[in-house]
Amino acid sequence: MRTQVGIVGAGPAGLTLAQLLHREGIESVVLEDRSREYVEQRIRAGVLEQGTVDLLVAAGVGDRLRREGLVHHGIELQFDGERHRIPLSDLTGGRTIVIYGQTEVVKDLVRARLEADLPLLFEAADVTVSDLDSERPRISFTHASRAHELECDVIAGCDGFHGVCRPSIPAGVLREYSREYPFGWLGILAAVAPSNDELIYAHHERGFALLSLRSPELCRLYIQCRPDEDLAAWSDERIWAELQLRLGLKGWTLAEGPVLEKGVTGMRSFVVEPMRYGRLFLAGDAAHIVPPTGAKGLNLALHDVRVLAEALVSWYETGSSALLDAYSEASLQRVWRAEHFSWWMTQMLHRSDGGDDFGLKLQLSQLRYVTTSTAAATSLAENYVGLEQV
Ligand code: FAD
Ligand code: DHB
Repeated sequence: MRTQVGIVGAGPAGLTLAQLLHREGIESVVLEDRSREYVEQRIRAGVLEQGTVDLLVAAGVGDRLRREGLVHHGIELQFDGERHRIPLSDLTGGRTIVIYGQTEVVKDLVRARLEADLPLLFEAADVTVSDLDSERPRISFTHASRAHELECDVIAGCDGFHGVCRPSIPAGVLREYSREYPFGWLGILAAVAPSNDELIYAHHERGFALLSLRSPELCRLYIQCRPDEDLAAWSDERIWAELQLRLGLKGWTLAEGPVLEKGVTGMRSFVVEPMRYGRLFLAGDAAHIVPPTGAKGLNLALHDVRVLAEALVSWYETGSSALLDAYSEASLQRVWRAEHFSWWMTQMLHRSDGGDDFGLKLQLSQLRYVTTSTAAATSLAENYVGLEQV
């Protein structure tokens, strides 16, 4: 088998790259180790920057997103028993965010790929990449019990943090930067109308909590927990009681409903540089991870593949590798901005175990500052909606 671009991973990065390349007449094969059902049901992010929405619309997969996505113009920060609105659109010349689950983005992309009858192989096992520093890198894998070899011009490693592409790069090539956080998020999806029109990021002495949503009938809620928190210790009653404590305000109660899904996510910051080795290009979570507090993971993944798709188009059209050679540096600029913003939001809103009162006072001062100074609020807002130029 032979293709132009071999794509490992059918998450948002791999599927969007395949779609962008298809629109430009470049062939690709997407290999995914999980089933279609699994990737379509895996609940993760929910906040899309305007640039992400624009990219999906331009790629021809934005119809349902435009119909069903919920446009938001602000978020709320809660601390010290009060809620303060950050008017995102007013502070950023009218830019907005759209609430639309990653599950829905993935479903739209999978459908577009399969309807166009283009190769997307689920349950591809034993995926390995080789000859990365040659002009004919290869991917070998097993599909439907048969072994296959795929010869490519380039390989896109879009296989997430635990994928095979990054570890296939020889030792000494990549430099890693990382930070672990001493907490995680316990997230639930609940069948209940959201009690607030906008997202609420709550700082509380018992730890952070977040109210988000997926639709007018579905809430997504998170509470700060230990990174290795035992889910079995969290009955639905206990989760709601903790959410009521952390999100509650005088005169306002959080509406409760059946819990449809729950899980714990660890939090880390991680970047590798460069995002390339020979003919292998890393994109999305395969190259970098942010803690979820800034809602940046999915948005960054899509920015990477936009830059990569443009570089590949230029390479095929002109023969010049200038944009491909610039891919890593161009992507990393935005990656580091998002890394900083996500770290900053995380340290401002989470309670550290055994956290000292000095740290707490700094958090409250920072929160008061971003909710009273237009300059500070604008900085938060422009990072949250996604900077146009980074
Ligand atoms: P992924 O979505 O991880 O896709 C990689 C794909 O590669 C997967 O489908 C995987 O099955 C496949 N794969 C892996 N190994 C192989 C292999 N060997 N062969 C073939 N295929 C392989 N971001 C937010 O902004 N907000 C959130 O609330 C949020 N919650 C998250 C919760 C969890 C549990 C996780 C893990 C991430 C969360 N994120 C969140 C981050 C966001 O979901 C990611 O940044 C986004 O999914 C990145 O997309 P991606 O395509 O790069 O990687
Ligand atoms: C959601 C996730 C986030 O990480 C965030 O900052 C806001 C919302 C969500 O899943 O809805």
